[in-house]
Amino acid sequence: MKTMDEKTVNWLVETAKKARERAYAPYSNFPVGAAVLTGSGKIYSGCNIEAASSGATCCAERTAIYKAVSEGDTDIKAVCCIADTETPVAPCGICRQVIREWGADIQVIMANLKGDTEVVKITDLLPLAFTSDDM
Ligand code: THU
Repeated sequence: MKTMDEKTVNWLVETAKKARERAYAPYSNFPVGAAVLTGSGKIYSGCNIEAASSGATCCAERTAIYKAVSEGDTDIKAVCCIADTETPVAPCGICRQVIREWGADIQVIMANLKGDTEVVKITDLLPLAFTSDDM
């Protein structure tokens, strides 16, 4: 996917925004929503799911990616994340690594509730990544 058309970006952002409403974030009070687009044209949504033992928390992006992968839909083209932030929210380091697992050309759409968006390639967010090629 060379560039993301506006309609697809909006679809991902709106899906992620709805998923954010299902976030389980009683500890951080920082709900996040995500959406994953695959080559089959399907979108998988996700939200952050926290746990009293904080290391067990799953970010919204990983929830959505794991939903797609567990359905056998591994051709990930784009990942969108949204939160109520001043500037478009950026995926955490662990999520960057998990996104990179599924391709170097994946587009990451960062968004906030104000309607700001920024689209970057995963390799721009995680340059010089450790991948299966290094093993
Ligand atoms: N979080 C996400 O879901 N995605 C991100 O990209 C940043 C952080 C979640 C994890 C935790 O539930 C809360 O936001 C605060 O860190």
